[in-house]
Amino acid sequence: MSRQRRKLIYLLGFMGSGKSTVGKLLATKLGWPFIDLDTVIEAGQGLSIRAIFENSGEVFFRQLERAALTETSKSEPAVIALGGGTFAQPPNVDLIRETGGITVWLDCPAEVLWARCEGMDNRPLFRNAESFRRLLMDRLPYYRLADFRVSTQGLECAGVAEQILRLGAF
Ligand code: S3P
Repeated sequence: MSRQRRKLIYLLGFMGSGKSTVGKLLATKLGWPFIDLDTVIEAGQGLSIRAIFENSGEVFFRQLERAALTETSKSEPAVIALGGGTFAQPPNVDLIRETGGITVWLDCPAEVLWARCEGMDNRPLFRNAESFRRLLMDRLPYYRLADFRVSTQGLECAGVAEQILRLGAF
């Protein structure tokens, strides 16, 4: 596949980092379509992410995620919000790099991530403080592989979208 830069932006980062909200704002500003990978998976199965995990387990979810990623990566232009674990699967990193799209890591302080996820029950991998911390630590080395890192510290989602636009990478 072509290594040329395409009008394709992948937002990645831990659960609660604002990928979907920032992605929508960014897509609106660019006038590009927005795609939320979790929403694509849910629509394809007619089930919530939680139900998919409960019924079929994480391995099956990762297969669905991979298939959805392959399909959505054919879109252009597009802003794609990945799931928190998508970019922590090495074959997905390769696939995304092959597309020639741009990857942006929304780097959000751990305490903010925790506060955002705590009150929600739609994240099956959000269990307790210890597993949350471990999962975050395990994923940071992958997130650091992104083309760009944007610190979300002290910013509203609109401010994060502005920062991404200022990267001037597309
Ligand atoms: C996951 C994060 C979720 C969703 C699924 C798995 C993860 O997406 O894809 O629950 O592995 O961290 P968000 O990051 O949008 O919550």
